[in-house]
Amino acid sequence: MKVLVAYATRYGSTGEVAEKIGEVMRAKGAEVDVANIKDKPDPRGYDAAVVGGAIYIMMFNGKTKGFVARHRKTLKDMPVAYFCLSGTMKDDTPENREKIGSKLNPMKKKVAPVDVGLFGGAFDPSKGPKMMASESASDDRDWDAISAWAEELISKFKVK
Ligand SMILES: Cc1cc2nc3c(=O)[nH]c(=O)nc-3n(C[C@H](O)[C@H](O)[C@H](O)COP(=O)(O)O)c2cc1C
Repeated sequence: MKVLVAYATRYGSTGEVAEKIGEVMRAKGAEVDVANIKDKPDPRGYDAAVVGGAIYIMMFNGKTKGFVARHRKTLKDMPVAYFCLSGTMKDDTPENREKIGSKLNPMKKKVAPVDVGLFGGAFDPSKGPKMMASESASDDRDWDAISAWAEELISKFKVK
C-alpha cells in the first residue's frame, strides 16, 4: 500500500508529527511519502492519504484546507484521514475535541475522512511570532497516542 502523508506547518511541529506517522506506517509495511504541502505533493497514484495541519488563532491552517480542496477529486477515490495539532488539545476533553474537531468540518464536507486525529501541539517562542515571544516553550505532543493512531489507521486503510 502506497500512502501519502501531506502536511502544512508554520513552525515545524506538525512536520515532525507527519514524519512520525510515516515512520509508524512504514514499520507496518506501507510504502510512505511524507511531503510538505508547499512542495506541491500530488496524491494521484497513492492508495491512501493522511493530511495534517495545525490551529492558529482558532483557524485550521488554510494551506491544508487548500490542498484538500484542490485535490478533492483524487482524494474522494481513496481512504483519507486528517490530523490536527493545537494548543487546546493538550487537554483531551470532549469539549476540546468538539471545539477543535469542528474546525475541520469544511474539509470533512469536501472529502469525508475515515478518521481524524486530534493532538496537542508544540510551541517554541524563539521560532514563533514576536507577539508570542514572552510565552514559555511547550511541547504537548503525545507520541504514544500519535503512534497508536497511525498504527490503527493502516488497518482502517486496508479494510476500505
Ligand atoms: C501564532 C500562533 C497561534 C496559535 N493559535 C492557537 C489557537 O488559537 N488555538 C489553539 O488551540 N492553538 C493555537 N496555537 C498552537 C498551535 O496549534 C501549535 O503550537 C501547533 O503545534 C503549531 O504547529 P506548527 O509548529 O506545525 O506550526 C497557536 C500557535 C501559534 C504559534
